[in-house]
Amino acid sequence: MNFKDIIIKKREKEELSQEELAFFVEGFAKGEIPDYQASAWAMAVLLNGMSARETTDLTLAIAKTGDTLDLSDVVDIAIDKHSSGGVGDKTTLVVLPLVAACGLPVGKMSGRGLGFSGGTLDKMEAIPGFNVNLSTAEFKKQLKEHGMVLAGQSANLAPADGKLYALRDVTGTVPSIPLIASSIMSKKIAAGAQAIVLDVKLGLGAFMHNVEEARELAERMVAIGELAGRKTIALLSDMNQPLGNAVGNTLEVLEAIEALHGRGPADFMEHCLHVSAQMLLLGKKAEDEATARKMAEEVLADGRAFIKFRELVIAQGGDVSYVDDASKFSKAKLIETVNAPVSGNLAQIHARVVGETAVELGAGRAQKEDAVDHAVGIIIHHKVGDSVKKGEPLFTIHANDSALLAQAKEAILKAHTFSDKAVAPLPLFYD
Ligand code: URA
Repeated sequence: MNFKDIIIKKREKEELSQEELAFFVEGFAKGEIPDYQASAWAMAVLLNGMSARETTDLTLAIAKTGDTLDLSDVVDIAIDKHSSGGVGDKTTLVVLPLVAACGLPVGKMSGRGLGFSGGTLDKMEAIPGFNVNLSTAEFKKQLKEHGMVLAGQSANLAPADGKLYALRDVTGTVPSIPLIASSIMSKKIAAGAQAIVLDVKLGLGAFMHNVEEARELAERMVAIGELAGRKTIALLSDMNQPLGNAVGNTLEVLEAIEALHGRGPADFMEHCLHVSAQMLLLGKKAEDEATARKMAEEVLADGRAFIKFRELVIAQGGDVSYVDDASKFSKAKLIETVNAPVSGNLAQIHARVVGETAVELGAGRAQKEDAVDHAVGIIIHHKVGDSVKKGEPLFTIHANDSALLAQAKEAILKAHTFSDKAVAPLPLFYD
């Protein structure tokens, strides 16, 4: 088989066979297929799509490039959750310890920033020492001992996804339903959880722009999950404006810690409680949604969820003194707040512009080898639907470069749109 022919076949909108997809995935994972050919192939897939059968074959081939964990010797049931990517989405940092505190083990493999969307691994690495590079044995041991684990791909779980993900991030090949579905589901299958809650984001700051696209992605992923014998559900949630107020690695960790103390922004708290309740329900920790919700609220209110977060940080080598004393995190050199230029009702806070601006400030990567700057980012002070008075703080930029600060101020101001008329708040979930 010749990989150039496979690229051409996809360019010509033909369906790839299971063997061709396996040939690509294995060759790419072993380094036999160079990045430039894999990029051309990914662009052909982005432009011409894939059938449901091709998506499933691609997913299973990616999952097979590493170990597929069997967690049944460690816990009776483990749950996993995954977001399809958004701006300010630090949900995992809260729901993972929260659900584990309710007694449901969570075995999670996460990703890094992707395009304008942030990544859980980059966020957690803002805590000095936090190690996401766990071996398979370490992953299982931690799940058994602590009932929760958060790892990156280097645990020999779906390593081909780790490579392809990094390449897609810098080649404009992220927003493709088959590529997102196979990326997410290969990790979920490899990590071994028997139940999976998918949080499919839609809107201006998501890879899926409307309910129809998000539903198609959700349905493909649920079908792959079920085929692999996992109980899988998907939520469709809003990503037109950032989730919560903070965007940027350290800033998001700080917001997640506040949320674990019950003091997070209202939209983010509600989002986390709803996702947690769905996880508890699917993991059979509760009979109905109301009971699941109550369990989640209780562990948040009595501090057990926060204690579990500390346990996670300690278990993975992080310096927990940062979690206890947020003032220890390094701050950006330049922190400036911009006030509202007019009075009005906030009609839009363009989430993609906010995400892209955070990347430009250094919170994400322009090239796959780039290091991220954990300290930089953006705090928005209002949400769509709020009535804002001229001169009130609108957003704050954390930057380490004065030219980037000036650009960010301009971009984020433009991302805010005001209206004279009353504006309804955005829904959190669509389905
Ligand atoms: N999250 C993933 O893990 N992969 C994608 O492609 C998008 C979001």
